[in-house]
Amino acid sequence: MSRIRRRRAWGLLLGFVAILSASCSADKKPSKLETTLATMAKDVAIPIQAKDLRNPLPPSQEVVQEGQAIFGQACAICHGADGRAQTELGRAMYPPAIDLTSPHVRSWSDAELFWIIQNGIRLTGMPAWKERISEEDTWKLIHFLRSLSEAATQQFSLSEDISLGEETRQQEWIAYGRLLYRQEGCFMCHQLDGEGGTIGPDLTVEGTRGRSDEWLVGHFKDPPAYTKGSIMPSFKNLTEAQVHALVVFLQNQKGNSNRKDVSESAARGRPPQTR
Ligand code: HEC
Ligand code: HEC
Repeated sequence: MSRIRRRRAWGLLLGFVAILSASCSADKKPSKLETTLATMAKDVAIPIQAKDLRNPLPPSQEVVQEGQAIFGQACAICHGADGRAQTELGRAMYPPAIDLTSPHVRSWSDAELFWIIQNGIRLTGMPAWKERISEEDTWKLIHFLRSLSEAATQQFSLSEDISLGEETRQQEWIAYGRLLYRQEGCFMCHQLDGEGGTIGPDLTVEGTRGRSDEWLVGHFKDPPAYTKGSIMPSFKNLTEAQVHALVVFLQNQKGNSNRKDVSESAARGRPPQTR
């Protein structure tokens, strides 16, 4: 076997976390927390030699449309027509089907996506498509996936155009931060409004701890440099805008009583533009 690159280096740690949390899980349906733990603990191992592949097709409108048609037939049942995975089946899976517009999925290269789609993901409901979808059609799918993320982006800028007040803009950052908080699985270790894991500190009152924005940004990139011996994974793969959204979101968490952020549905997967 060839060398492989481990994407989720903290798989091991999370296995440990999973054992810790298993004790509180005697009942029927897996809790949200456990479901997330399973999602995070699995490991996508992509052979190095699979990573030099390039998408041979241009991202033309025609190719994207063909990709969309294949997606509708093969993928939408779990991931939803818009890729957001808000389908009954997708949500019932263990781990749940992933939001294909999330930063996590966006950060894969075309070659990595190609490998994932062709080979599936072990121990999850994500099937291998090698037998059913040709290589060419897989590349078309990938162009379609990229277009989904772009569409999410544009939707967001539309709401930006109606010139909004500063307050509303702030609310959008908070909403985007809340979305990322869920997408990045923060709640499997942290409590927020009474939900989530207890490995890390409760973040419901993070905004009252007196942390500076700089501290929070630095801590995200390298937790042990800020808290000695920290086992929190670093979130280096997030863009600056994403880190900013998380920081604004966290600084706004001042306990249940004075929470006033809007629902995450207001965030369509993209940071608000700063003026
Ligand atoms: C039977 C349900 C199902 C179908 C059909 C399905 N998927 Fe998935 N998919 C999943 C699940 C469950 C996951 C989550 C695994 C995980 O946690 O990463 C997933 C994960 C993924 C990922 C993300 C991998 C990661 O961890 O970042 C990609 C990309 C993906 N699917 C693409 C597709 C495409 C493209 C199709 C259609 C060809 C498709 N899926 C069809 C269930 C499905
Ligand atoms: C694997 C478990 C784990 C995950 C996942 C995790 N954290 Fe943490 N986090 C911790 C632990 C443990 C600490 C305490 C040690 C430290 O400060 O680094 C911590 C500390 C923090 C702190 C510092 C609190 C303070 O002011 O002292 C913040 C803020 C934070 N986490 C935010 C997040 C956010 C946001 C995410 C998701 C993007 C996240 N964490 C994901 C385990 C985790």
